[in-house]
Amino acid sequence: MEERIQELLRELTIEEKIALTVGASTWSTHAVERLGIPAINLNDGPHGVRKPESDSDSGLTHATPATCFPTASALASSWDTGLIRQVGEALGQECLALDVQVLLGPGTNLKRSPLGGRNFEYFSEDPVLAGEMAAAWIQGVQSKGVGTSLKHYVCNDQETHRMTINAQVDPQTLREVYLLPFERAVKKASPWTIMAAYNQVNGVRAVEHPELLREILKGEWGYDGVVVSDWFAVNKREDALSGGLDLEMPGTPAVNAENPRLAQLVRDGLLSEEVLDEAVARILRLIFRTTAQRNPGATFDKEAHHALARKVASECVVLLKNEDNLLPLEPEKLSSIAILGRFAKHPRFQGGGSSHVTPTKLECAYDELTALLGDAVKVHYADGYPEEDRVDETLLREAAEVAKAADVAVVFIGLPDAYEVEGMDRKHIDLPPSHNRLVEEICRVQPNTVVVLSNGSAVAMPWVDRPKAILEGWLGGQAGGGAVADVLLGRVNPSGKLSETFPVRLEDTPAYLNFPGDGHHVRYGEGVFVGYRYYEKKGIKPLFPFGHGLSYTTFEYSDLRLSKDVITDQDELKVTVKVRNTGNRAGKEVVQLYVRDVEATVPRPEKELKAFAKVSLEPGEAKDVELVLTGRDFAYYDAARSMWYVEAGEFEILVGASSADIRCRAVVIVESTQPKPGFHEFTTLSEILQYPEAVEVIRQLMPHAAPTEIQDASVAAIMLNIPLAKLVKMGLIPSEEELRSLVQRFNEAVHGLKPSA
Ligand code: BGC
Repeated sequence: MEERIQELLRELTIEEKIALTVGASTWSTHAVERLGIPAINLNDGPHGVRKPESDSDSGLTHATPATCFPTASALASSWDTGLIRQVGEALGQECLALDVQVLLGPGTNLKRSPLGGRNFEYFSEDPVLAGEMAAAWIQGVQSKGVGTSLKHYVCNDQETHRMTINAQVDPQTLREVYLLPFERAVKKASPWTIMAAYNQVNGVRAVEHPELLREILKGEWGYDGVVVSDWFAVNKREDALSGGLDLEMPGTPAVNAENPRLAQLVRDGLLSEEVLDEAVARILRLIFRTTAQRNPGATFDKEAHHALARKVASECVVLLKNEDNLLPLEPEKLSSIAILGRFAKHPRFQGGGSSHVTPTKLECAYDELTALLGDAVKVHYADGYPEEDRVDETLLREAAEVAKAADVAVVFIGLPDAYEVEGMDRKHIDLPPSHNRLVEEICRVQPNTVVVLSNGSAVAMPWVDRPKAILEGWLGGQAGGGAVADVLLGRVNPSGKLSETFPVRLEDTPAYLNFPGDGHHVRYGEGVFVGYRYYEKKGIKPLFPFGHGLSYTTFEYSDLRLSKDVITDQDELKVTVKVRNTGNRAGKEVVQLYVRDVEATVPRPEKELKAFAKVSLEPGEAKDVELVLTGRDFAYYDAARSMWYVEAGEFEILVGASSADIRCRAVVIVESTQPKPGFHEFTTLSEILQYPEAVEVIRQLMPHAAPTEIQDASVAAIMLNIPLAKLVKMGLIPSEEELRSLVQRFNEAVHGLKPSA
């Protein structure tokens, strides 16, 4: 393939090369028929294929029917990479059947704020979980010979002014939080394309960002795929190409009218042909990769994919609360059930915007529950609230009447379509007043109430103490209704865990003071403290913590073992824990491993998720779960030296059932083989005092200035903050030259660094 690419680069004219770097239409690239280079189709994604019926159509309201799987926030709540891979394989097969060569997904932006309008399309607030989910999805789709587009690279974490906003984020935060899911997915799964975002990052548009595209993505991470622009994100193609973009999308007549001008720029030497060739080579690679398995006869099995969608959705459901073991419902013990809330019959199952799929069919919880319950249990139903966003007292009264007469009430509520759409952030995290009221009214008359939620992102629950059970059903896709029925009736034991923190109030959230910015800039002022990292650092108790989720059985953790007590940053550490199912039902548990840096020189979170595994256990069964950590799992990003740095010291290994439910802990000592941050003219005396070797240098050179001899505490406090450079002014170091030589001697004594020539 690489040889053929080089051959083609020699044969293509400049005009043809330019045409290859831009779409021919909304969803396809240009073909070069004379050389047998076909056009390819790129379509949305991510939780289903959105193939508009014609190439010029947006397909936003109607597209060719395809399976609508649960959206990303649901998928990530399964914490099951094997399952996500299966979803990817099914999506890949549907792409083959619909002649789609690149599926525009997955979205792996970070949930900085629960207000983010596309949070339903993104996996998590945690970069490791988000990165692992994205990688599994990519591997699944690409195993079918269909490309993916990891999006939106990077810091497209809000919808307000999404096409222009400048995300201001410090380098440590950028690397540790926002780039990390992309880095993990790129390194693990090599998506064949990556989509550059609309927004700016630190003052430079993401589509023309040499540092992000050329240095980090293509350089450091060794990315060999295509960087494609988000639709209409490019301002000037020459700037984008120079910055590291390869393909501008979409290709409208207006965009293509630019082609002759760009060809001229190449002829005039104003746009380097080398840059153009690199982009074209990547695009040709993509075309070869994605057309190898193109198959006009391909089909997909709608029923099998619907069944998969139901199974997947049921694995994503999170049991938030289950007092008195009200769930699962046991039909043998019930004579009647009240199903309440319009969503039971008219489900909210996906979000609005470019990800909107026309499903092949649609299940609702009411039909599925009724069918599964059979004739023995009487089912009563009431809407409870109208379609419009208003409280209707008559509907509330009707629902309460129905609930009062039944053995148990199941209330379906959530966020209506208009609350979660691409292009718009939420203004608050509240459910509609009519939905909140329904819960209140039902709980007043029915002690056995279950609430089932449909929403793509965290919501507040002012009534949380009232119902006995709460199920988070997310936006469960076209089979979400059946999945919820399966969980309610215990046909599936819930095993989902929250992929994001549910806060009590919006004011408690990490980005509250800095979201969505002033219309031009948004400052990522919370730094690395996103999601649970923030709540933990501030000691704010959330409504439900990250990683939380109950089961119909119980699990016991024991016997935490580390393969070594002392490691270096070059070693692997194997962490093993025994997990036993102590209840009387088969179930699955998500084992979460967090690492805590006991003492660090830079601000670090209380703990960070580094690995996880989902394990399936029969009643009474126990299994050893092994998780592996590497040096990088202990590192922070040292912005001053632009490197991942493992600071030597003690680290705690915390294993548990959620971020707030740590069951076992152990300590490992990590030794660093990396150089410590070097000394410079502005190193302070307190920093120098940490190194006896450095103190020794001072003692030898200037016995009278040795900082260890400062006895008085108040003098010491002042002295300790003084950088070396000031000692020249104070006359304690005789000259600038002496200062430089002193710094060199410190570096030599402490780090063994030889003076540079
Ligand atoms: C969205 C992308 C999407 C593209 C094509 C853009 O507005 O941000 O996620 O893939 O449109 O529909």
